[in-house]
Amino acid sequence: MLRKNKISASLMCANFLNLAEDVTALSRGGADWLHFDIMDGTFVPNFTLGPDIVKTLRPVTKLKLDVHLMIEEPIRYVNRFAEAGSDIIVVHQEACRHLHRTIMAIKECGKIAGVSINPATNIKVLKDVLTEIDLVLVMCVNPGFAGQKFISHSVDKVKDLREMLVSYGLQDKIEIQADGNINNETSARLNFAGATNFVAGTSCIFKKGEDVYENTVKFRKHLDNLSLKP
Ligand code: DX5
Ligand code: ZN
Repeated sequence: MLRKNKISASLMCANFLNLAEDVTALSRGGADWLHFDIMDGTFVPNFTLGPDIVKTLRPVTKLKLDVHLMIEEPIRYVNRFAEAGSDIIVVHQEACRHLHRTIMAIKECGKIAGVSINPATNIKVLKDVLTEIDLVLVMCVNPGFAGQKFISHSVDKVKDLREMLVSYGLQDKIEIQADGNINNETSARLNFAGATNFVAGTSCIFKKGEDVYENTVKFRKHLDNLSLKP
């Protein structure tokens, strides 16, 4: 199955003085999901968004709300983010004492369940939960901040992950998402390796002083061209 490449626009990089305007520009420009980076200052050394921003944006957009929980023991807040209107809830393997139980909690809320792994975490940690999840988020930078440099082994990691999914016959069930310094060059390499969902932040859509709508249109065209390549 040839999956359409998705744009998940990273809201932590948006203009908070004109958030509604940016969300409209993203939607008109061809983004598929809004990506909410949630940080607790403990699992990652930063603070960003919370459930209230998800709740605020839920009624004003048709885009899917993709919530990336970079927080310790996320099971504590799964219901809160589900009730706020999330469509996708992604937790870090490294932050869950009971990863299987946490994934089940997301699915009991009827949400798309994803697991994210940091640059130093091996894909093997996912093996025993693959049949329960819908998405794997491969971090291509150390989580916590926008504007970081791409960690080059991320491409091989996506390739290995894709091969693992194929070996279990799960390549059509589980989507591979990539987050961190995603631009035309890195997305092309990651797509060739098997990623079809890209978190777009300051490296492509939210470039300083550039138009969000125009950059979204350009990235949309870029990803659509990639899909066409054999
Ligand atoms: C890292 C963040 C960033 C952000 C995207 O925790 O998740 O990856 O969304 O921003 P850039 O494109 O600057 O990496
Ligand atoms: Zn993220």
